[in-house]
This record gives sequence, C-alpha cells and structure tokens, in this order.
Amino acid sequence: MAIQVMAKPIPGIKETPLRGVQKQFAEDRLGLWQRFSAEQRDIVKMHFLIYPVVLFNTAAMAQEVLVDKADAFDKIPQFPIIQLAVGEGVFSAYERTGAHRRQRRMVQPAFQPRRIAAYADTMVGYGQRIAGEWANGQVVDIGREMMRITLGVIGKTLFDVDVLGEADQIGKLITAAFEYFGAELKRPLPIPLWLPTLHNIRIHKLVSRLDQTIYRIIDERRKNPEDKGDLLSILLAAKHEDGSPLSNTEVRDEAMTLFLAGHETTAVALTWAWYLLATHPAAYAKLQSEVDSVLQGRKPTLEDLPKLPYALQVFKESLRMYPPADSFARTTLRDVEIDGYNIPKDTTIIVSPNALHHRADYFPEPYKFDPERWTTENERCIPKGAYLPFGAGSRVCIGSHFATMEGHLLLVTLAQMAKFELYQHHVEAEAVFTTRPKNGIRMKVHCLG
Ligand code: HEM
Repeated sequence: MAIQVMAKPIPGIKETPLRGVQKQFAEDRLGLWQRFSAEQRDIVKMHFLIYPVVLFNTAAMAQEVLVDKADAFDKIPQFPIIQLAVGEGVFSAYERTGAHRRQRRMVQPAFQPRRIAAYADTMVGYGQRIAGEWANGQVVDIGREMMRITLGVIGKTLFDVDVLGEADQIGKLITAAFEYFGAELKRPLPIPLWLPTLHNIRIHKLVSRLDQTIYRIIDERRKNPEDKGDLLSILLAAKHEDGSPLSNTEVRDEAMTLFLAGHETTAVALTWAWYLLATHPAAYAKLQSEVDSVLQGRKPTLEDLPKLPYALQVFKESLRMYPPADSFARTTLRDVEIDGYNIPKDTTIIVSPNALHHRADYFPEPYKFDPERWTTENERCIPKGAYLPFGAGSRVCIGSHFATMEGHLLLVTLAQMAKFELYQHHVEAEAVFTTRPKNGIRMKVHCLG
C-alpha cells in the first residue's frame, strides 16, 4: 500500500489586510528580512498587496531553489525603470524562452579569468587616482568616492573609455541616471513610466542621451573592430548560434547591464567595508599591518593578492553583513516541492541573502563584524547556500570574480594611501537598487605616506 506524505503547510505572518507587507517592504525591507531571521523563520508566506509571495530562508532551501531545482524557476519581470535601462540584457533574460542560456554563453567569455586578470592595473590605477585627489583632513562622502572609483573602472574595462574625464558624457549621464533610478525605486507605488510627468520626461531624456553616446561608441568600434581588451570587444565579436553578430540594440543592452550591475554593487560593498573598519579599530589595524608588511610601500599587483588574505576576509565579511543585493525573486514555472513544501506553478518566491546572512545558526552573533569567519578553515564550516552575496546556480553573478578582485585590490590600495575616520554618528542602511547608506557616510581622510 502506497503511503501518502502530506505536504507541509507554509506558515504565514500577521499582515495588513489587502496590503500585506507591502508597506514594510517599501519602507524597511532589511528590517523585514532580519526580523524573519531573528525569529528563526525557515519559510514565510506573505503578501505584496494581494499577491502571495513565499520567502525561503534556509541554506538548504536556497540551494534547492537556485541550484538543484533551478529548472523549475525563472526571473520575474524587472521594475520598469530597470527594464528601460538594461532592456533585454542577460540580467533580465528569461529561462523559459532559452534567452538566458544563449545570452549568458555569449557574455561569459568577457569574464574569463585571463581577461579579468588584465584589469588589475586599471583597478589599482583608479583607486590611486581618486585617493591622490584627497587632501589630508578632508571630509568625504565615502560612498560617493567609492562610486567614482568603480565607475572609472567599469567605464575603462567595459568601453576602454575614461568616464571620469572632465569632458566625458557617460560618467555624467550614468551618475545622473542613477539618481533618478534610486528616486523611482524608493516610491511605495511606482508611477508608470509612460505617464508624462516631469520626472518621467527627465528619465526618458537621460536614457536617450545615454543611448546616443553608447550607440556612437558601438558604431565607432564596429568601424575599427580590433580587440581592445575590454568587455565591449567581446560583445562585438560574439555570435548567435546561427553565426550572426549581435545587433546594436543587443550590444547596448548587455553593455548597459554590465554598467549597471557592475559598479554600484562593488562601490557599496567597499563603502560598508570602510565603515566596518572605521568602527572596528583592531580589524583596521590588522589590515593595515598586513598591507604594510606585504607591500612595503609598493603598488599592489594581482600577484600580491594571495599574500593579503586578511583584506579578502574583510571584504567577504562586509558582503555578509551588508550584501549589496538584499534579495532576489523568481517565479515557479511548474509545481515544485522544496524541502517538503509544495509550491504551485506561478508562485513568486524570494531568497534573501540579507536574511540568510543574519541567521545565528549559520553565522553565530550575526551582527558582529568578524573577518575571522573567513579563514580557510572556518569558511569550510559554512553550509552551502548560507552565504549568497553573488547568488548561486545558473544565474550566479557573472562578475563575481571581477568584483572580488576589485574589492580586494581597492581595499589594499586605499589602506596603503589613507586612513578613514568616521565623521558622523548615525549610519543607517536602506535597500533601494542595492543596500546602501541612507544618508551617505562622511569620513575624514588621513593621508598616509
Ligand atoms: C560586490 C559586487 C557585486 C555583487 C554583490 C553582485 C551581486 C549579484 C547577484 C546577487 C546576482 C544574481 C541575481 C539573481 O540571482 O537574480 C548578480 C547577477 C549579475 N551580476 Fe553581479 N554583483 C556584483 C558585481 C558585478 C559586476 C562587477 C558585474 C559585471 C561587471 C556584475 C554583473 C552581473 C550580471 C550581468 C548578472 C546577471 C547574471 C545572470 O542572470 O546570468 N555584477 N550579481
């Protein structure tokens, strides 16, 4: 006789009728994730307005969703403002049409380890250039400074263009566009982009000016198609399965995706790292002593990185405490069972790195900044699926090695040139596009050497 195993019911939470958790999600979603982890909730059913959403909040469930049963899940449509910026690039491409698999294969060669390694000098160079502009005792918004560095790096490695140059259009347009995107994503209920509000008109104008600039670069490069070693060269050389090249729109969408996904994320990761170091003097001193003894005043190179393990531990721990991508959503393509829970087709689900990273059973004392968690020995004890700053599975961040190398190199480059002192009392994190400081973080720069 067959024994039927009953599916487990998914526990809900107390919610506002017809609104669910939409208000908390819009106003303080980090608070929401961390509450679930503090309450040791493994799975939560909640509502955004009237729409049901399931949060999977164990390492094993995250692993099932993102890796073992990934074929049952697909991306949900992007926010309209993100869609406008990145179009049909790999970040938003769907699995169900096969588009994601095809596009990922075309973009992947741009991230081969050999190619990424060649960007190390550019990363160090932009760090040194921006740090060289700081005067001793100057108070800076550290987030803004990190953004300038990573913008410079992505512009150079993506387009072989110096976007920090005075006359450069892309740098200015991207920075302005980000301001608008941020404001748009913060709205509790988005205003449709087709409405001709002043805000929308400005957004469309900005994106169209950005497009003109990018199309101009693409045109120039098509006329002169040598490999400049940048990411754009790879996109221009990429071919569809039938051998045809990518259209200008496809190249534009992938390039904008990499621009958008590849600079604010790393900038906020570094911003939180400096904040954590400035508030933990022993860790800061340990980092500086590692940098001084290994580099002895020399400019860091890629080859130095294995000798600078503590800097990497600091970066990993910052990504644990403040993962730039607080959560990501999927929809189910079919009925699927996850850890004994039956999830019907067309359900929206969420995996939240921020929630998982604050679970005390995976990371004891989760609010303690402790780079020692990331020694080779300790890291081995962290369960698969518990640490997801870059996601996992077929949609794992394509730029994870790029970002880790950039974060590692910039921590050591800047630690060598300056010491940052926190210059404000209250610092608060908020999740907009990425998890960033709500009102910036001001720091006093003490120039070294
Ligand atoms: C610390 C820095 C970064 C963090 C924390 C980060 C985080 C993530 C996460 C969590 C995802 C997966 C989202 C999901 O599963 O829905 C992702 C995807 C992606 N990231 Fe990153 N990222 C970083 C840097 C970068 C860089 C430097 C680039 C490119 C230069 C990049 C390009 C992308 C792209 C193209 C995707 C989409 C991949 C796909 O769907 O196949 N990211 N990133």
